[in-house]
Amino acid sequence: MTQEEANLEVRLEEQEEFEPPESFVEQANVSDPGIYEEFEENWPECWEGAADLLSWDEPYETVLEDDDAPFYEWFTDGELNASYNCLDRHVEDGSKNRAAIKWEGEGGETRTYTYGDLLNEVEAFAATLRDLGVEEDDVVTLYMPMIPELPIAMLACARIGAPHSVVFAGFSADALATRMNSADSEHLVTCDGYYRRGDGLDHITKANEGLEGVDHEVSDVVVVDRLGDELEHSLSDGQHDYDELIADHEGASVEPVSRDAEDMLFLMYTSGTTGKPKGVKHTTGGYLSYAAWTSHAVLDVKPEDTYWCAADIGWITGHSYIVYGPLALGTTTVMYEGTPDYPDKDRLWEIVEKNRVDIFYTAPTAIRAFMKWGEQYPARHDLSSLRLLGTVGEPINPRAWKWYYKHIGGEECPIVDTWWQTETGGMMITTLPGVNTMKPGTAGPPLPGIGASVVDANGDDVGAGEAGYVTVNKPWPGMLRTLYKNDERFIEEYWEEYSDEDAVNRQLTSPHSTSSREDADEWVYFPEDGAKLDGDDYITILGRVDDVINVSGHRLGTMEIESAVVGVEGIAEAAVVGGHHDVKGEAVYVYAIPEDGYEADADLEERAAEGILESIGPIAKPEEVIFTPELPKTRSGKIMRRLLEDIASGNELGNTSTLRNPGVVDDIAEQVDN
Ligand code: WTA
Repeated sequence: MTQEEANLEVRLEEQEEFEPPESFVEQANVSDPGIYEEFEENWPECWEGAADLLSWDEPYETVLEDDDAPFYEWFTDGELNASYNCLDRHVEDGSKNRAAIKWEGEGGETRTYTYGDLLNEVEAFAATLRDLGVEEDDVVTLYMPMIPELPIAMLACARIGAPHSVVFAGFSADALATRMNSADSEHLVTCDGYYRRGDGLDHITKANEGLEGVDHEVSDVVVVDRLGDELEHSLSDGQHDYDELIADHEGASVEPVSRDAEDMLFLMYTSGTTGKPKGVKHTTGGYLSYAAWTSHAVLDVKPEDTYWCAADIGWITGHSYIVYGPLALGTTTVMYEGTPDYPDKDRLWEIVEKNRVDIFYTAPTAIRAFMKWGEQYPARHDLSSLRLLGTVGEPINPRAWKWYYKHIGGEECPIVDTWWQTETGGMMITTLPGVNTMKPGTAGPPLPGIGASVVDANGDDVGAGEAGYVTVNKPWPGMLRTLYKNDERFIEEYWEEYSDEDAVNRQLTSPHSTSSREDADEWVYFPEDGAKLDGDDYITILGRVDDVINVSGHRLGTMEIESAVVGVEGIAEAAVVGGHHDVKGEAVYVYAIPEDGYEADADLEERAAEGILESIGPIAKPEEVIFTPELPKTRSGKIMRRLLEDIASGNELGNTSTLRNPGVVDDIAEQVDN
């Protein structure tokens, strides 16, 4: 538990508590504390309530099928279509003219799509995809920034039963190619470019470079023209202009395809311990029910609300809480194209005021930036429309929590600090805003029906005040079903089986059991997060215990970054760790050994950084590249990552006498600025 111990510090000495305001509780979608017991007693049937938020073409027969655990199935034999649930049924219910998406372009341009408009364009694009030869179950890759055509393409895919794989627009050409190759995806929707701080950024060149790295034939590419005259681009063979295709298919009617509840809705690639990104598979029935239920219970979304999740749709948060959850509930979801400080640092508050936003959901890293900029920016705007605030993606420090509560929520909005992952599909550990006391810095109890707990290295529940690992010992509807075409890795990466015989020998330090699945009595999911439990069963998340780091709420694999660095000519070996960063939470630190004959100079440093940009993208940009003739290693030859993390974070360095090469530590530490 060495590295982990460093993460598992007690973060909150003085813990204040906050009660949800009465005015909030009175109108909350969920306000009965009895919900926890109700779900417990009635598990797994309690999840019927989530499925009931959707419209089904065929009712399901069984809530949970666990014969082939951990390949659980939810709402088996049920049939439904996600695009029907997010669009048609609201149009049929008389909400045709309600705004579905309110889009704010970076330069001040806006677009509003009513549910009627959105359905029309989704049908036109669904017809387009069909004409291009996209068939049910074909994976369509969407490499797009925050423009309305992204959710339109997602819903068009869902309509015809083609799973989408959205690749974050900030990812590099290589990252796009890796994901298209892994998913055998033959179809790409992308755009010419987008705006960042007033400049038109070229995106199509990157997309084209990515296509060169695809190892199979790509039958068609659709390109949205976002920049108009600002960026002249020519379409090559097999590339089509989105607007022309939509014009050709205007008025098309495309029946939503009935999908089995367990059919894949989408794939989302995420980082893990090894260098290769994992293709997380989410399904139509379970995922959509769970996204809708958590949007209802935790985000308190109501159809008449204007709701804003300021994430990017390229990540899971945007999938679940910009697109699927809010649209399934028929609310108005806001989408913002740009950055929070353009043209000025009050941009987000201007959008809140203008749209009378009721619910606002963002990442702690953004809140820490707002704090740094100062309270004068939100103070310029009337934020009184806000009713509820949320955070996601990384631990929030109590100071940032309190700043958010005071300066954005005016001390009148509950805050939900929601812990979850790409793999969980939706929120898992958080307070219910109309039910629970809030404790800044502490996510809260597991949601009703969610079997999350904190266990020690033997797999036993820890006591109050103790730290350990987060585990989930019951399946839930929004869970990933597998890793795309890799059932084995799915089991290895996430599941520990406990059978009675090995209960005594549980060893989480080698969590991936090899004993045969038939013997398992109970499967336990490992999210790879450290956490601390308090006397009220509230869980404080302490951070990852694997080689994943969290930079500005973005999940990055250190192994992926390392392999990018060692791919650079002149670099022999590298270790990448996360170091503390006041705003970003963590920042990327690269320690590298130059190859013989290469100088550890600015040029090599630049090429190392360039290697990372090329293979991943600017989000993984290193804070520092530190050259050293040696990396600190234990006598058995393992790199002491904990020590490198301490150096990067400016922490006091512990005992280094167990190192094979203790002398190297001071040399390295001297080079790091902090
Ligand atoms: C971290 C993002 C503390 C955690 C939805 C998890 C959090 C990883 C919180 C998943 C939170 C997410 N408090 N840590 N409220 N929410 N995390 O897959 O380490 O991009 O394992 O999903 O983010 O990141 P992912």
